[in-house]
This record gives sequence, C-alpha cells and structure tokens, in this order.
Amino acid sequence: MSPTPRSQTGAKAQTVLEAPAPAFSTREAEAFAQQAFDIQASAEPLHSERDQNFRLRAKDGSEWVLKIANPAENPAVLDMQTQALLHIARVDPHLAVPRVKATPDGVLFHEIDGADGRRFIARVLSFLPGQLLENATLHPALGRDVGAMTARLARALSGFFHPAARHELLWDLTQAQGLRTRTHHIQEATRRRVVEEVLDHFDAEVLPELQKQRAQVIHNDVNAQNTLAAGDRVTGVIDFGDLIYAPLVCDLAVPISKLIVEHSDPIATAAEITAGYHAVTALEDDEIRLIFDLVSTRCAMEIAIANWRVCDHPENADYIMGGIDEAAALLEQMREWGAERMYAGLRRACATPIKIAVPDFTRSPADEESLHPLLERRRQRLGPGLELFYDNPLHVVRGEGVWLIDAAGRSFLDAYNNVPQVGHCHPSVVQALAQQAAMLNTNTRYLYESILEYADRLTATLPGDLSTCMFVCSGSEANDLAWRLAKAHTQNSGAIVIEDAYHGTTDAVYELSPAAHGKGRPLAEHIATVPAPDGYRGRFRRDDPRYADRYAACIDDAALSLDARGFAPAAFYLDLILASSGILVPPKGYLSAAFEKVRAAGGLCVADEVQSGFGRTGDHFWGFAAHDVVPDIVTLGKPIGNGFSMAAVVTTPAIVDSLMEESEFFSTTGGNPVACAVGLAVLDVLEQEGLQERAACVGAILRSQIEKLAGQHPLIGEVRGAGLFIGVELVRDRSTLEPAAKEAAAIVNRMRELGVLVGVAGPGANVLKIRPPLVFDENHAFQLTDALDQALREN
Ligand SMILES: Cc1ncc(COP(=O)(O)O)c(C=O)c1O
Repeated sequence: MSPTPRSQTGAKAQTVLEAPAPAFSTREAEAFAQQAFDIQASAEPLHSERDQNFRLRAKDGSEWVLKIANPAENPAVLDMQTQALLHIARVDPHLAVPRVKATPDGVLFHEIDGADGRRFIARVLSFLPGQLLENATLHPALGRDVGAMTARLARALSGFFHPAARHELLWDLTQAQGLRTRTHHIQEATRRRVVEEVLDHFDAEVLPELQKQRAQVIHNDVNAQNTLAAGDRVTGVIDFGDLIYAPLVCDLAVPISKLIVEHSDPIATAAEITAGYHAVTALEDDEIRLIFDLVSTRCAMEIAIANWRVCDHPENADYIMGGIDEAAALLEQMREWGAERMYAGLRRACATPIKIAVPDFTRSPADEESLHPLLERRRQRLGPGLELFYDNPLHVVRGEGVWLIDAAGRSFLDAYNNVPQVGHCHPSVVQALAQQAAMLNTNTRYLYESILEYADRLTATLPGDLSTCMFVCSGSEANDLAWRLAKAHTQNSGAIVIEDAYHGTTDAVYELSPAAHGKGRPLAEHIATVPAPDGYRGRFRRDDPRYADRYAACIDDAALSLDARGFAPAAFYLDLILASSGILVPPKGYLSAAFEKVRAAGGLCVADEVQSGFGRTGDHFWGFAAHDVVPDIVTLGKPIGNGFSMAAVVTTPAIVDSLMEESEFFSTTGGNPVACAVGLAVLDVLEQEGLQERAACVGAILRSQIEKLAGQHPLIGEVRGAGLFIGVELVRDRSTLEPAAKEAAAIVNRMRELGVLVGVAGPGANVLKIRPPLVFDENHAFQLTDALDQALREN
C-alpha cells in the first residue's frame, strides 16, 4: 500500500529543508510504535536533518528505527524509498541495508495526525547495528570496500524503477545548476566566485557529457555518516533519503567527494574507492574521466547549500557549516591539480585488477529461516551432540585477518579463535601451503629438508635439552604421545592433572581431562587431580602470601593418593594458561615448586602449550618461560599451523630413546612437507609482523579498557590473563563471588549480535574468553570494549 498523495493546495510548496521537522516526543513515538507496528519498545531520538527518527529498542531484543517524515516530503518519494528497500531485499538479500517492517495488517505507511494539524507519515525500518564509517580509519582496504559496496548497492537497484524516481532533489548532481540562484548567500567573495565557476562549468561542459552516461536509480548518499564499517569492511549502508534516478557514476562521486576531504593523499584514496567500485561494476573510460568534475561540483553544491541554509538557521550554524571549509579547501586543491592528474590516478587504479568477493545475489539470506535446513542436515549427518556456538549460530563463509564473514556478507570481529594466530587466511601461510601442496607431499619415511629446518627453528625457541621434535596432527595426539613418552621413560603409569583440565580427545588423554568428564563419568584410577591455582575464588587466595606454595603442595597429596591406589606419577600435565579452569595465569613460584614435587615423586612435567604457545602471552614465546622452569616435554598444537592440522611434541633425546626402546612412532601425515612449509610460514609471520610484541601491547590496552568497564559494571569480578589471552570473570556479587553464568551466556550472545565474537570458559561457565588472532590491534580492542560495554549495559 502506498501513502496518500500530497494534496494540491496551489500554494508554493515548502521544500523539506524549509518545512519544520516533526517534533513528537519520545513517549508519543513509543505509543505509535506500539499501536501501529505492535512493537513494545523504548524510543531514543536519532539525529535527522529534515525528518524525525527514533531508535526503538524492543522488549524482545530487536531494534528498529521509527521514521516520521517531514510533511513537505512528497509521499510518492517515500513510497519509492520503501519500494527500493523491498526490491533490494528480494534481489540481494545479503546486502546489509535496513529492512522494511509492515504493521500487523501489512501496511507499510502509518499516518499520524500532529497537534499542529499537519499529517505525518511514519515508517519502521530495521536498525543496523555497528560503527559509523566516520569513526573508523579509512585505510586502503576499507576505501576499496566502500567503492565495492556502492557498486553492489547500485547493482541491486539496477532493475528497479518508480514513477517518482526523477523527482526534484537538491542533492542531485544533474540538478546542480539550480543552486546557481542561491550562490549569493556565500559571503566570502573568492569562495563564491569559485563555486559559481564550478557550477557554470558543470552546466556548460559536464552536464552534456553526463547525460550520455548510463543511468538508473542510485543511492546517491554513501558517506561516512550513512555507512557502517568494521575493520576493513563495510558492514552496512543506511539512509535512502537521497535516492534518485541519475547517471550511475554520480553514485561513486558522492563517497569520493565526502571521504577524500582532509585525507593526506586524496587522489590515492579516490583511487582505492574507484578501484573497489570497478572490481564489482566495470567503469567506462568516460565515466572515470567525469569523476573529477563530479567531485568538484559536489563540493561546490555543499558550499552553496550550507551557506543558503545557514541564513535561515543561524542558530544551527556550527552544524550546517561543519565541514564546509574542508570542502572549499578540497575544491581549491582540485583546481590546482587539474582534471588530468586525478583521471590518471583513477585510470591506473582501475587497470590493476583487485579481487572483491561479490556475493551470489540468488542465495537466500542467512537468517534463522535459511539456517534451518543447514542445521537439520548438520544434525542428521554429524549427530545431535556436536556443539554450536551462539543461540543464533554463525554461518561463516570466509575469514580474513581478525574478521570472520558470514553468508550475508557481515563481518564479525573474531576475538575468540586462537588457532588462526597470525590472522585468518594469512596470505603468506596460504601461499606456503598451496606452493608446497603443488610440489610435494609425502611422509617422514623419506628424506626432505624442510622438516629439519622447521625442527631447528622450533627447538631454537626452547631452552635446555628440549631438542627433539616429534610431529603429529592434533593437540590431542601430541598429549597422547607425551603420555606414552612419560610412561616409557619413568616406567610409572599414574598421572596428576588439574581439576578442570582439558588436554584432548584420544582415549588416554580424555582420561587426563576432568573438564570433559562433566557428564558424571568418574576419573580413572590412575589419575589424581590437584586444584587449579586460582587466587581469585579458589581454595587459597591472593591475600595469602603463600598461596602459590599451598597449591603446589597439593601435588604431594595427589602423589600420596596415587600411591595408595598402587600408582606412581609418570607425568604432571599443565596447561600454561589454565583455559578450562577459567583463563587462570599460574602464580609466580607455582611452577617451580610444583615441578620439583612431581620430579621428586618420579614423574615428568608436561607443559601443554597447545593454547598458550607461539607468542600469545606477549612477554614470552612460551607460557612456561614466564616461570623460570624447563619442562621435560612440551606439547604444541592449535596455532602451530594457523588452522592447518598439525601439532608437535618437543622433548629431550633421552626421553625419546626410552620410548624407542620399547615401541615405535610414526604418523602418516604428521610433519609432512606441507605441514613443515605451513609451520615455517607461521614462524616467519610471527617474527616479521612482531606479533608477540603486539600481543603484549594490545593485550595490555585491552585489559586496561576492560578494567575501566569494571568500574561501571559490578558484574565484572576480575579481569586477568597475559598478552592476548584474557579472561573476564562475571559474578553476581563481588563478595560472595556467585558465578554469573546466565549473564555470561547472554553477553556472549549479545556481543555476537553486535558483531564481536567471544566465548565462555571456566567450571562455572562465567568467564568471558577472549583470545583473538594476534593481528588484533588497538582499534579492534576499542570495538570489543564498546560492544562489551553495550552488552553489559543491556544485561
Ligand atoms: C590445552 C589444550 N590441550 C590440548 C587440546 C587438544 O587439541 P586438539 O583439539 O587439537 O586435539 C586442547 C583443545 O582444546 C587444549 O585446549
């Protein structure tokens, strides 16, 4: 249903910039939302130049925007905007633009009578969460994505038309000459002359060329206030208020004119945006040639419009004139360069092919409905017991650096996955993998150099006699092999493990993993446990100066208990950041005392570095290195291959000899040439990109930001960790430490909706688990804390 046409009064109609914007109260907005759209929500005013918009936070967690249009707005134009959104939802459902919400009777436009006798048209659109581009740094990859998004949006609109599409619009470049009658409002004479020259040149030279170009309905307002971004990705575009039928290239001129202002290298930035656009929709040479004049004209239009508007609204001068000096400066600068310089830069950028993943327009959106068949197939083929993260599971299709991208093209900041240590799909790792896979892949029963180079590199990072490497394919296998080594070397068969430890999934290692015994299965007879050295809520706490020693002394009790059952310890396993115990950092003095006691009881000390290794803890490459001890066996996994299935055990020659005396070891794919190429590439990237140092520095910033949040949110009991391995323990009461498990789950789910991925850990399931790829930077840290802050506030 379309809105009622505006009545023809015969009087000269006011423009939307002249007619006063609607002025309903928040309470009234809440009442309209409830009565007309059946949304029970709290409303918060949003800024609008000419309309009145409210953000609605509904009781069911959904968020909407109530848009009350300026009464001077042509209802047919509102209908066009709404129909365009519906069209996009049909042809490119993955495109992150607002969705239109109808009333329960299917009505898209709700008419409201104002107290001043005017009638207003209200609509509801979905609220797109995320950070505005104006708050992000426009680095080259993001610039390209802005261009790509602009092109994608235009592609989605290419089959759309509406009778109101060629309406009067101040911001339509093809109508720029209409502003010539308003330039007298520009006070400053030189500026006025420049604007007039640009507008005249446009009318005489540019418009005739522009009119020969392909045209369609375009968004016409992709700018920093209408675009959402996360990292180097555009995550959404809002505000369809300037939709117009115009030459396609005008759509690209808008983001260029808005985003190169104040940029240190405007032509390079314009080139990135243009290249991104060109990768999705190839630009014609004439279109590229026109961009210089279109950008200049757009700057001139901004100056003319602002100077005219400020005469009517001097009280709003700061807002209206904000950015006008910059637009004037850009205009001056462009006149100095001349058109050829910009054309050459843009032409060159378009000549270098770049890869932009253009989603398949025919696929259905990744909403709950479309996930259903996938979930069902998964249940049937993989069994019902396989865990899935989040109430609203994530269907991921791509990874890049710190980002995971879902099937709808939305980027999520990955602060959870520690396997892609050097970033998702790091090009150097991918290249090493592909090159070696194309050359040779075999097994350790043949000679090849790379395994020796890799073993040299790994052992060079380790102290003492830890000089022999054994390669396997998973952390579980590494811990399983460590178990065989320890038994062979000590001739004992008991084990001491931490109460909530997890070391893997093979039959032997599962026994060493009490965390996995949650379903009530008792521990095997040969296993004794010791409490995790938890100074916050454990048996011994930080206020006791000897608490580390007291935890270490529990090893003696465990050895005695094994002895009583007829066992002596072959090994003590320790995860160097106790992840499954709630992200605990072992206290100073604990390891040396514990290792001494284990060795005195005849056992070996196994450092499980599957999670804590490869620089994650920041100050050291290995977790144990912070404690002045040398383990007997070190097990490596997860980040070792950045996601490629590989793992290793590093130990002493004497321990390996003990195993070889009584049995053999061979892994068909462990340590194969591809694994070695990948492992070497991971070590190279860690070194070249200084990722261990970055983990230390960004980790410290992130921890201190979260600690600041603890000042406002009593739910945060403790923030702890090392480097980029951080735990945030949530408690209902800071004195009783009652675990806030339900709240932790709600926060993790809410952060997922806000585009940030974290997890939960700990026996009480109340510790937020944060361990992102190490390419995580300070901006990512702020994005995470913003989302955490919001999720905590809403909790
Ligand atoms: C500390 C630790 N050790 C070992 C493993 C087992 O590694 P994988 O799953 O690669 O077999 C895990 C897995 O989560 C782990 O966290």
